[in-house]
Amino acid sequence: MGKRILLVVAGGIAAFKTPDLVRRLRERGASVRVVLTDGGAQFVTPLTLQAVSEDKVYRDLWSLTDESEMGHIQLSRSADVILVAPATANILARMAHGLADDLATTVLLATDKPVIVAPAMNVRMYEHPATQANLALLAARGVTIIGPDDGAMACGEFGPGRMSEPLSIAAHLADWFTGQAGPKPLAGRHALVTSGPTHEPIDPVRYIANRSSGKQGHAIAAALVALGARVTLVSGPVALPDPAGATVLHVESAREMLAACEGALPADIVVAAAAVADWRVADAAGQKLKKDGGALPSLTLAENPDILATLSKPGPERPALVVGFAAETNDVLAYAQAKLARKGCDWILANDVSPATGTFGGDRNLIHLIRQGQSPETWPDLPKMEVATRLAAEIASHFEFENGKK
Ligand code: PMT
Repeated sequence: MGKRILLVVAGGIAAFKTPDLVRRLRERGASVRVVLTDGGAQFVTPLTLQAVSEDKVYRDLWSLTDESEMGHIQLSRSADVILVAPATANILARMAHGLADDLATTVLLATDKPVIVAPAMNVRMYEHPATQANLALLAARGVTIIGPDDGAMACGEFGPGRMSEPLSIAAHLADWFTGQAGPKPLAGRHALVTSGPTHEPIDPVRYIANRSSGKQGHAIAAALVALGARVTLVSGPVALPDPAGATVLHVESAREMLAACEGALPADIVVAAAAVADWRVADAAGQKLKKDGGALPSLTLAENPDILATLSKPGPERPALVVGFAAETNDVLAYAQAKLARKGCDWILANDVSPATGTFGGDRNLIHLIRQGQSPETWPDLPKMEVATRLAAEIASHFEFENGKK
């Protein structure tokens, strides 16, 4: 998503779900800044929201410090969108009638940015004509309304009024951003992304694999979709949902991955984030190997094709920009430089995959971007979605620059 969201947390029981909501939005690459009302603070602490958003939580209209650091007008405009969740009957009424009696409502009145609300309240309050009229007024003014869901309420009643689940709100926002008529600098470009591990069979039930989760590659596919690229994601076996908007080809082994990639050409962009097994078992057994008390089986390995090197080969089908990864546990930069030269790609993203870093399978990554002929550029330690957003932006600038030269 790669967007800045200002989340207004109002005073309803559903506020306890907002740390999860912040997490889900950040997983999709958004940065989230929180405004917490006094009512909201009855259900969720500022400290929790500060920890999950990794940003200051704003609470007080009259705070001299906050006003000098980030005035409420600036706060209201510093985001791409304002999300009110939970949106209680009270805050909806104040929004509808233009009240500005605390930081949240002042920000909402001062903003020139789109506003999205996720209502949450008791079913009778939701169905009350006053609330319905307020929602209708807000909708007529362009406010987007997500939910509420039907279900059992904290008050014991049943019906519409439950705040939509954080995952669903985050997905809704991602779709909303995708549907926006914002700039799509990669429109008309085809991006081929590899992600996840490969599984190399030993026999029909056993395989050689590695610890890649696909989080980094899938995030890159989503970030490229968000910038308008047509994305083909070739994914090894992972437990992640397919990123919305990408064509996903599911494969198991390195040789299947190569065939899928070659079948997806031509492409303008390749990002090889998959942790492809370097070797496979030369003569995988057709039937399950038996432990029969005799000699231990020994595995003879054969080298797998190098997908990145194959796609980087000069020729008429060579994508204009080929980006590889280098997963190293020591001498990261030196090995990554050598890989960039050996594989013939244009850029390489070096990451340290020593167990202590948690890069394999974790949610964060510290990247050194090395472009052919240039010194490495080290990015801060970022959530993988933010790495993806940043890479997609770099790719878009690369094409803008190349176009400018023509
Ligand atoms: O999936 P996650 O849990 O989110 O973890 C992300 C990651 C650590 C897997 C990712 O950030 C990463 O580093 N991916 C590349 C992993 C890897 O196999 O690195 P490598 O240094 O062994 O390979 C270098 C490059 O060659 C990579 O672009 C790789 O995709 C490619 N390669 C390698 C071998 C091979 N046979 N074919 C290839 O295309």
